[in-house]
Amino acid sequence: MALLEIKKAGDPILKTVCAPVDKIDKRLRKLLDNMAETMYASDGVGIAAPQVGETIRAVVIDVDKKNRYDLINPVITHREGSVIDSEGCLSCPELFGDVERAEKVRVEYISRFGKKKILDADGLLARCIQHELDHLEGQLFIDIAKNITKGKKNSEA
Ligand code: CO
Repeated sequence: MALLEIKKAGDPILKTVCAPVDKIDKRLRKLLDNMAETMYASDGVGIAAPQVGETIRAVVIDVDKKNRYDLINPVITHREGSVIDSEGCLSCPELFGDVERAEKVRVEYISRFGKKKILDADGLLARCIQHELDHLEGQLFIDIAKNITKGKKNSEA
């Protein structure tokens, strides 16, 4: 595995609407593994492919360092409730801000082995899914956050 360079806010690649993944193969699984390693090395809880320069619809999430999710072509098919909480992002170092998100989401996606999956999530996992899927649309949390501050906190995605 290898650490990848994380693109920072201001890089036009982060503003790109990403293309669907059309081939699930070894190369894609290697990219997902490298994304995961890069995320863990940066103490992140999620990472989206455009953050490492690949404009495809793939994200890796692990909010408890126990359950890693590789989501390919993810689509949120249900949203419920609303909650405002602080967020950060590996592409926006040391910036934090309050973002309103759905409290619960259902996401449908393809697994790293090409299987159709459904995941119902709440709490930090639901927030992280929404944050990472925004990356696939070329949107950063700082585009929608309120009360943005500079400082240190422990969950960046
Ligand atoms: Co992010």
